[in-house]
Parts: sequence; structure tokens; C-alpha cells
Amino acid sequence: MLALGNDHGGYTLMRYITGVLDELGEAYVWLGSKTDERCDYPDFAAAVARAVVSGEADRGILICGTGIGMSIAANKVPGIRAALCGDLYSAEMTRRHNDANILCMGARVIGDEVARRITEVFLRTEFEGGRHAVRIAKLVP
Ligand code: RB5
Repeated sequence: MLALGNDHGGYTLMRYITGVLDELGEAYVWLGSKTDERCDYPDFAAAVARAVVSGEADRGILICGTGIGMSIAANKVPGIRAALCGDLYSAEMTRRHNDANILCMGARVIGDEVARRITEVFLRTEFEGGRHAVRIAKLVP
């Protein structure tokens, strides 16, 4: 189960990503804004982060204009490792090395097709564990 969140800046891209997830057969709960009326990204970052930390969702996807506000806000929640990705290499490596549990994207930074591919890579890539698990255990708090 995925938890999805977006503000007004991320609404159109998130709507596109829900279509991608439907095609992939991925289950999700969409906790984001369903309009492009102005709203506050920390509200949606908190909702998705709480869903992931509580176990209601396995992972999350957050989209705002830049992806930066969402990643800052989500990473305030203990247990969240939110990664802002704008390329496929980062999306793969943040799963393999950081066990990122939330993917953040910037709707005003990347196009639909790059966002689709980043999402696919993020969802299918497994954490490598080993030395990377040791490093994650050192993250504070
Ligand atoms: C909204 O205009 C914009 O500030 C927001 O979507 C996000 O980019 C913040 O980091």
C-alpha cells in the first residue's frame, strides 16, 4: 500500500501518477489535495509520513512544486527517510542504499515521463541492507 500526498503545485502530476499506479496495479490511498487551489504542503507531508510510520502504508510519494518543501517536512517525522529525486539513478540508489520510504518529486522541475520512470524504479528497487543498514541505524533520531 502506498500513501500519496501533494499540494496544489503537485496536483496535476499526482493525478498523472495515480494513473501510472493504476496501470501497475499498485494499491494506494491518496491523501493529497484534489484541486489546484492554494494549500500548505506540510499538512500533506505529515499525513503521508504518519501513514508510513504507522504501517498503514509501506511507502509514500509526495509531490509539490519543487519537491523540496515536501522532503523537508516529511523528514521531520522520526522514521521517515524521504528522498527528493529528479533522475533515475538517484531513485534507484536511494532505495538500494538509503532504504528511502518516501519518494518526493517536484512537479515544476521534471516532466510526466521522467516522474513515471522515477516512480517505477523507486517501487521495484529493493534495499541492499548490510553496511547500508548499519549507516541507517546511525541516523538521528
Ligand atoms: C507552492 O507554490 C510551492 O511553494 C510548493 O509547491 C513547494 O514547491 C514548496 O516547497
